[in-house]
Amino acid sequence: MNISTTIGNIAEQEADAIVLNLFEGVTTPGGATGAIDQALNGQIRTLIAGGDFTGKFKQISILYPSSGIAASRIILVGLGKQADFSLDRVRIVSAVATKEAEQRGVKHLATIAHGGGIGGLNIESAAQATVEGAILGTYQFAIYKTGETPTNKLETLTLVEFDATKQTDIETGAQAGQHIAEGVCLARNVGNTPGNDLPPAMLAEQINDMAKTVGLSCEIFDEHRIQAEGMGALSAVGQGSSRPPRFVILEHKGQNPNAAPIILVGKGITFDTGGISLKAGDGMWDMKFDMCGAAAVIGAMQTVAKLNLPTRVIGIVTSAENMPDGNAYRPGDILKPLGGKTVEIRSTDAEGRLALIDALAYIKRYNPAAAIDLATLTGACVTALGNDASGLMGNNADLIQAIHQAGNRTSEIAWHLPILEGHRNQIKGDYADLKNSGGRPGGALTAGAFLEAYVDNYPWAHLDIAGTAYTNSAKPDTPIGATGVGVRLLIDYLRNLS
Ligand code: BES
Ligand code: MN
Ligand code: ZN
Repeated sequence: MNISTTIGNIAEQEADAIVLNLFEGVTTPGGATGAIDQALNGQIRTLIAGGDFTGKFKQISILYPSSGIAASRIILVGLGKQADFSLDRVRIVSAVATKEAEQRGVKHLATIAHGGGIGGLNIESAAQATVEGAILGTYQFAIYKTGETPTNKLETLTLVEFDATKQTDIETGAQAGQHIAEGVCLARNVGNTPGNDLPPAMLAEQINDMAKTVGLSCEIFDEHRIQAEGMGALSAVGQGSSRPPRFVILEHKGQNPNAAPIILVGKGITFDTGGISLKAGDGMWDMKFDMCGAAAVIGAMQTVAKLNLPTRVIGIVTSAENMPDGNAYRPGDILKPLGGKTVEIRSTDAEGRLALIDALAYIKRYNPAAAIDLATLTGACVTALGNDASGLMGNNADLIQAIHQAGNRTSEIAWHLPILEGHRNQIKGDYADLKNSGGRPGGALTAGAFLEAYVDNYPWAHLDIAGTAYTNSAKPDTPIGATGVGVRLLIDYLRNLS
């Protein structure tokens, strides 16, 4: 989708449709909607007076005015009650209106930045959220559906603003919105790609292609290098698959390439059978989403590069396929990961934490300002928090708070969970330093405690996205499948570093 901004009168936009909005309960529209209503001799007021349109959140009405505006249609979208209005709602109404336009065969759409005028939101944020909603709401993953390649795609979206003093802000916001939403779509594409088509080596190649395109440096460790580096845990997880593991390092230099970097680490298990501790067959298929942590890091790194953020950011993906075969690692095995603490395997299905610890130990050499890992790590986190919040753990109150706030601003809720002495005790090993499963009680938290044991004194946070990384119930800005969760949160966090 081509995104542009223009200063002018939306009535004069030569588009296939224009998008206008209305708060619930308003009978005489103001702003752009009011101006168009006047140009149409009160047609919108008539629609409201007749009860056809109330402005209820996400409500849609279509008008085909015969004269008065240059576009052929008006898509009117309800913003809901002014008291309930938020940037989250901007993204959602923009998604609803844009999808409606696309389904009607609209190629060129003009819209106001929802909430930037009467809504009272910061115009830059309003433009950003409007563009995010448009791109995220029309996202489709249809490449595997024969003959269903979307042909009706919306081609251009123009944000129209009347007030010329807002030009820079609206442009900056729209640009950011596009880069961010494209990062989310990349994360969704990676997340939705099934295990057969995305073994670790292929995932690494895709990352390398992306890195080349946007100008990130990229280094890939193959299975031999992984072993040579002493990454005994990632190595073990990958050894039961005929498709070997990969460890990928992306880097955005930022303004100061010697600065202490922010490091993002993603779990990239391209398929998780559970290994020898084989999962039950029912629902195993959704373990094709077990690389959504990696997907978030990939999407975020693309966006970091496109926004050319001033911060030095390093992205790490640890990727393996967790398969059972004659060469697979077993329960009872004792592994030697990086960082020195040995691990006895209680369940080969607790593989995500194993894939991550080598990375958490490896990054010590960068002297990180902060490290954030993202992983579809535990079913226990889904039990605890459901699908509307990711679990947030860590060793640093400021970092946890910053991530929590970024989650609130982006509506990618990150809920702080504790790591307590008891959780650390649960994962003490009987035959090695640690064991990779602490049993059922507090399963998300013992996983956090396990990761923490390999964090050597830098600020660290862990996002368990098992419940939020993919969905079976579509929302206006999120179809079923991989959600791309994490990308918007991470970018918001990085853009708000003080
Ligand atoms: N990938 C799973 C966690 C998961 C479960 C993600 C449900 C998304 C939805 C992870 O590798 C796993 O299998 N975890 C085990 C850990 C246990 C063996 C200690 C779990 O949660 O059951
Ligand atoms: Mn598992
Ligand atoms: Zn897993």
